[in-house]
Amino acid sequence: MRDCFAPLTLAVGLGALCVAAAADDDAKARSYGRHLAQECTGCHRIDGADNGIPSIIGWGADRFTKTLEFYRTGERTNPVMVSVVKSLDDTQIRALAAYYASLPNPQKK
Ligand code: HEC
Repeated sequence: MRDCFAPLTLAVGLGALCVAAAADDDAKARSYGRHLAQECTGCHRIDGADNGIPSIIGWGADRFTKTLEFYRTGERTNPVMVSVVKSLDDTQIRALAAYYASLPNPQKK
């Protein structure tokens, strides 16, 4: 009878491991994103000011990823951003999304 509980204990244990790994992945993604963002900050200011180029800091990761995908699919056609997005793979886009989402959005005060 006691054996019946073993798989459950194991599952809970693995669950805890997965959560820890995910948190670690998040931190890694953010720091990779910070590195990649050096390519973006020449145009998109990191202080959130809009200098004719829209501010992208503090965006939710979902909106960020979807917007970048619009440039990939051709729904948005800005040539600069189309070529920026072409140079990024999915992992890099996710990393950038995690990084920008971790920054405070100045418009949301
Ligand atoms: C050479 C300048 C330049 C660089 C470099 C650049 N962008 Fe952009 N970005 C723009 C411009 C201009 C727009 C507005 C384009 C439009 O209207 O579709 C834009 C739009 C965006 C948008 C949509 C903003 C909105 O309000 O709809 C996102 C998200 C974005 N860029 C992310 C990035 C990321 C991430 C990087 C770096 C990997 C990057 N950009 C690099 C110039 C740049």
